[in-house]
Amino acid sequence: MTKESQILVTGGAGYIGSHTVLELIQQGYSPVVVDDLSNSSKESLIRVEELTGAKIPFYEIDIADSKGLASIFSSHSIDGIIHFAAFKAVGESVEKPLAYYRNNIGGLFSLLDCMDTYGVTQFVFSSSCTVYGDADDVPIPESASVSAVNPYGQTKLMSEIILRDVAQSRPNWSVSNLRYFNPVGAHPSGRIGEDPSGIPNNLMPYITQVAVGTRPFLRVFGDTYPTHDGTGVRDYIHVVDLAKGHIAALSYQKTVQGVHTFNLGTGRGSSVLDVVKAFERATGKTIPYEIVDARAGDIAEAFADTSKASEVLGWSAEFGLEEMCRDAWNWQSKNPHGYEDSSGTV
Ligand code: NAD
Ligand code: UD1
Repeated sequence: MTKESQILVTGGAGYIGSHTVLELIQQGYSPVVVDDLSNSSKESLIRVEELTGAKIPFYEIDIADSKGLASIFSSHSIDGIIHFAAFKAVGESVEKPLAYYRNNIGGLFSLLDCMDTYGVTQFVFSSSCTVYGDADDVPIPESASVSAVNPYGQTKLMSEIILRDVAQSRPNWSVSNLRYFNPVGAHPSGRIGEDPSGIPNNLMPYITQVAVGTRPFLRVFGDTYPTHDGTGVRDYIHVVDLAKGHIAALSYQKTVQGVHTFNLGTGRGSSVLDVVKAFERATGKTIPYEIVDARAGDIAEAFADTSKASEVLGWSAEFGLEEMCRDAWNWQSKNPHGYEDSSGTV
């Protein structure tokens, strides 16, 4: 294999990873994907290949497999890493904390070892707004205090701390912590999107499953929060905008060293009922719902201060809430069972 400059994308077959792989290719990068398919399907990458005409080198391994990982670094000239691979279900993390610490922290160790061995200096980390816990004020700036209330959140916080300490001892490294708010939607082609297994925990995939007839109605978790209509407020961001944020971070990183933390959100807060209404307007579907008790551990309101990403990265989200709903529905209606009905090899 000829050695060319490439970006290793861990978890690249997953929801955000597959959209980022597509965006990388469209912006002239050569992604190499490693994913153990523990929460995804190869089909996402096959479809990215169809959409872009590119061939994506793909390795089906667990990133904790340091021998397997080393062989990827030996065969490719990896310039930088975008690290998505992790478990992400909050409730499951409470039941299986050890599995979450092992996967989310252990995987990070293998990657950082490879950076040392193979002289890679660029690292982009998938962090989360969950590190802000229940923030005192909105919009939330990157300088807000951090805390975690469940093992999943702890793994994000600990990873940020590990990256900070390791980068401090490697002055030529450049690390971005990207704190995502609530990624939703799908590529406008409707070929790739979010494919949760089982009953979705998150709002948008639940709504699209109601719209497609898989679930009878939406349960709105609480309507007595101190928000404009009493339902929880979040900062929903289109996954294509989010993917573009990674490319902006990669290109900024080439010019700086050290650790840089950015919120990736739209800066706008939308309530659960705002999302329901936007979905109905964007799709013409009616979403029946019932108000039920608040979900344990939920916060009233979270949305990002996005000024740092806009000023430093020159990046800001472009899609609005109706476009997010339109694209989420386009994906769900074209793929009622997600990738389940497809099979193939990369
Ligand atoms: P996802 O589950 O769709 O993608 C993660 C991918 O990583 C999956 O394809 C999975 O198979 C793979 N993976 C997991 N452990 C692995 C391992 N040890 N080795 C190799 N591959 C492994 O999730 P996503 O929504 O695309 O999230 C991507 C990242 O963004 C995660 O780190 C997640 O914690 C973070 N994040 C997600 C959200 C969200 O709401 N989706 C919000 C904030 C942060
Ligand atoms: C979830 C994760 C959080 C992660 C964030 C970003 C949980 C408990 N938390 O939180 O760690 O950082 O996504 O992606 O999973 N809602 C309903 N009915 C539903 C589903 C959700 O009313 O069936 C409401 C929730 O109460 C909340 C809003 O919709 O007000 C959004 O919920 P969700 O999509 O789960 O995201 P977060 O709560 O922000």
